[in-house]
Amino acid sequence: MENDHDRILRLRKEINGHNHSYYVENSPTITDREFDILVKELEALEAKHPELYDPYSPTQRVGSDLAKEFEKAAHIYPMLSLGNTYDIPDVDAFLTRVKDSLEGEAFTIVGELKYDGTSISLIYENGRLVRAVTRGDGEKGDIVTENVKTIKSIPLVLNGDNWPREFEIRGEIVMPWKEFDRLNEERAFNEEPLFANPRNAASGTLKMLDSKEVARRGLDAYFYYILGPGLPFDNHYDNMMAVKSWGFKVSEHMTCIDSIEEVDNFINYWDIERKKLPVATDGLVFKINSLRQQLNLGFTAKSPRWAIAYKFAAERALTELRFVSFEVGRMGLVTPVSNLEPVLLSGTIVKRASLHNEDIMNKLDIHEHDMLWVEKGGEIIPKITGVDTAQRKPDANKVHFVTHCPSCGTKLVRVEGEAAWVCPNKYGCAPQIAGRIEHFVGRRMMNIDGIGEELATQLMESGLVTTIADIYDLTLEKLLTLEGIANKGAEKILEGIRSSLSVPFDRVVYALSIPFVGETVAKKLAKAVVNIDNLMNASHEELEAIPDIGPRIADSIIDYFKSSINRENIERLRVAGVQMSLPEETLTPSGDVFLGKTIVISGTFSHHSRDEYKTIIEQNGGKNAGSVSKKTDFILAGENMGPAKLEKAQQLGIPVIDEKTFLSMLP
Ligand code: IVH
Repeated sequence: MENDHDRILRLRKEINGHNHSYYVENSPTITDREFDILVKELEALEAKHPELYDPYSPTQRVGSDLAKEFEKAAHIYPMLSLGNTYDIPDVDAFLTRVKDSLEGEAFTIVGELKYDGTSISLIYENGRLVRAVTRGDGEKGDIVTENVKTIKSIPLVLNGDNWPREFEIRGEIVMPWKEFDRLNEERAFNEEPLFANPRNAASGTLKMLDSKEVARRGLDAYFYYILGPGLPFDNHYDNMMAVKSWGFKVSEHMTCIDSIEEVDNFINYWDIERKKLPVATDGLVFKINSLRQQLNLGFTAKSPRWAIAYKFAAERALTELRFVSFEVGRMGLVTPVSNLEPVLLSGTIVKRASLHNEDIMNKLDIHEHDMLWVEKGGEIIPKITGVDTAQRKPDANKVHFVTHCPSCGTKLVRVEGEAAWVCPNKYGCAPQIAGRIEHFVGRRMMNIDGIGEELATQLMESGLVTTIADIYDLTLEKLLTLEGIANKGAEKILEGIRSSLSVPFDRVVYALSIPFVGETVAKKLAKAVVNIDNLMNASHEELEAIPDIGPRIADSIIDYFKSSINRENIERLRVAGVQMSLPEETLTPSGDVFLGKTIVISGTFSHHSRDEYKTIIEQNGGKNAGSVSKKTDFILAGENMGPAKLEKAQQLGIPVIDEKTFLSMLP
């Protein structure tokens, strides 16, 4: 039998592994519930063995949403989380514990919805909103007041007059389903990555630097907790009603409950009814109503003893696996996909779900015609979470990952250090060729209207376009040979091709399908190298010296330009008139105005990013340093300059120069 010490070490390792799959690889290997069970077991064992404390244990992670662009503020009261469970008996046990702690004194419970968004703390002084801070690491968070002010349901000035002079109110910023769907439709149209769920969309939006865009996205907020001295009532429910009368949005479904039986009814009711709500919820919260009783019950290090969250189980369904298909992407990556007997899940019919990679497929141990569990939690994309092995036929064969490309038959190669297999036949494998054409013409790349997924495949199959450069050899006559293409359609495509000649160089770099070069990397590369020749001839060291370019990207770029096919393509694109350099006027000025000067950058800017200012300083002979010291010549300060830097600069008498003045110093 495994002893506690070994079990703790094993659980830490296992949980770290699951965290990595979830946060880094975006492909969870277990359900949230299974994950929570592991964490709870580890927490219990660690509590039993304080001598095995480890600050690096996954239980010591509080999660942080701090972004470097925002100023931070310490929370007056730490922002704790709630103890949670997926089981009704646990909620009942919580209530029994409360009863015991209160030595039999009667108590009222408040039942609430648990909104699935991102938490926010607002500070009001004299009836006015003065600051909005995100949860951050629980101790301190980002000041996002400007963005929060754009949320129309949040009062900037309060109604009534029975509010305390100073108080803090906490709530959840959410993106209603309607807005979420609209935003994702818009992003799909613009070929931008979609948000997986309204929670990510809400927190991503709140952290945007452009408040105008935040305002456009239709965020909303529900409030559920008020703190501070001088609250109007001695119980949570009445205080929330007061909060409501001051102008805050408080859930209309908040209910006072007096018995365990009613708690169970409340859970059973909302398990079904929540699906009709306009916003995402991931559970319910039960709180002890009396503030005096709350005070008596107190807090643990992580959560209040006077509240518990009941989490809704993800919706799941059991369905039969028809077959596993293996799909080849633009970069040759082979992905296993489960093709299912169609099944209804959370309002949509699910027919397919990705199995991500060989490791995940093997872990599930999938056999032909297995009955699979499909789950859809807060996520929009369904995932396979398990197999009902009891229903497996004894003679069913295990499904193995393919050894050869399902499209061109080439032997697959395993990517070093990863669970991924790729088809190395880059230039002869149909889905890779079609994928590159489709990517090249995409809206965010060369934006050639009229060529979509279907036409890209048709062009390739007809032999008219087998490399991206062939697109520029298309003529009306050639296009008219394709089935389903008439004069008007062909003209539109040719017009799209002509206008693509003015697409800027950074988007051309992105359009080339260089592995690991996404939109942001392409922008950084284009800025740094200025033209295609510099990119093609850059050494490994030169590439790695560019901000955010690591060895993997550098290797990939060098590899790409080693291929004579790619070099030839580039030459043909150049002859066709595609932009192969940045226009003169966008180039950063260079000279020696900052020769020998050490400059510190602080705050946020409106004309260029921090990285761009770093480049400008260096291109003009200066050096950018991270911290203020005697050696600093001046500080380039944007908005919200860090207070520590400002104080140090004042102490040392170092000049602080604003963005406008700095720009006027350039040649
Ligand atoms: S009460 C001291 N009430 O859930 C605890 N939280 O897991 C104060 N949440 O961080 C929180 N709806 O972001 C509370 N009705 C509700 C809630 C709620 C959503 C979120 C909140 C909190 C997290 C706890």
